[in-house]
Amino acid sequence: MKRFRRLRSSEAMRSLVRETRLSKDMLIYPIFAAEGENIKNPVPSMPGIFQYSVDRLDEILTQITERGIAGILIFGIPKHKDALATSAYDDNGITQQAIRHIKAAAPGLLVIADVCLCEYTSHGHCGMVCGHEIQNDETLPLLAKMAVSLTKAGADIIAPSDMMDGRVAAIREALDSAGFRNTPILSYSAKFASAYYGPFRDAAGSAPQFGDRRSYQMDPANGREALREIADDIDEGADMVMVKPALAYLDVLHAARERFGLPIAAYNVSGEYAMVKAAAANGWIDERRIVMENLTAIRRAGADIIITYHALDAAKWLEEA
Ligand code: PBG
Ligand code: ZN
Repeated sequence: MKRFRRLRSSEAMRSLVRETRLSKDMLIYPIFAAEGENIKNPVPSMPGIFQYSVDRLDEILTQITERGIAGILIFGIPKHKDALATSAYDDNGITQQAIRHIKAAAPGLLVIADVCLCEYTSHGHCGMVCGHEIQNDETLPLLAKMAVSLTKAGADIIAPSDMMDGRVAAIREALDSAGFRNTPILSYSAKFASAYYGPFRDAAGSAPQFGDRRSYQMDPANGREALREIADDIDEGADMVMVKPALAYLDVLHAARERFGLPIAAYNVSGEYAMVKAAAANGWIDERRIVMENLTAIRRAGADIIITYHALDAAKWLEEA
């Protein structure tokens, strides 16, 4: 008789035939560096997540390196915002300072730098604005300048999240001509216009002051278009690609895994984190089991790299398991 249960009889047996495994060297932890001094601000919609000033970053860096997480994704929160996002490509900007500090304090930690203008623009959009239009080609040189500046500061990987067309090619060309031929690009290729980014915009102070991001981020309804976006970024020179958010887009992740051979990242975003934390705080779910189940699902769907606010907890739980 067919008995699937034969291989489920004990943890040793289940572990022997487990198809999907997680390890902490595939986890990336996002961090928020705020300009100023002696800052450790909790993000209300993301319990456990803080904005840190550079002088207090070591608190979190120690935890990250002790846990053995692969790397971090860095977001800067500047004091000064303007229409041209000048703080984004200022070699002495907050993100550049934070990267220099991190590479000095924890040289082995991979630093992935998010490249986008929305934290630095007064209007909160990811590109240059004319009237109420987001300008594509006018934005590209600024993104390229930002990428070069962040790489000069020490970033190991450049991750454009703006969703302007042609940005991967523009950034690749700028990096190459600045002598950074060996710096890889992890493109947020399939980035959907998602309500799951809500808590992040509090954390990074990057909410658009008018309109929304639907003229540049993808329509959540479009799976086939996501594959075309990914293919195009690969053509433009992306070394790795990303699907974001993760959990509501596992079909896209899986389809991308089937079709493309390069490393694929999935971003388990702020709203996904906030929902888990809120339900757990109410005692409605078992946080540890839910988090490991979510991360396993993301991995099973095809992610090589998982960017998640749960990374510190997950690394601890993986060690205990
Ligand atoms: C900036 C950016 C966003 C996120 C990562 N980079 C926000 C947005 O596009 O509005 C979202 C991350 C998260 O929700 O955790 N473009
Ligand atoms: Zn942006």
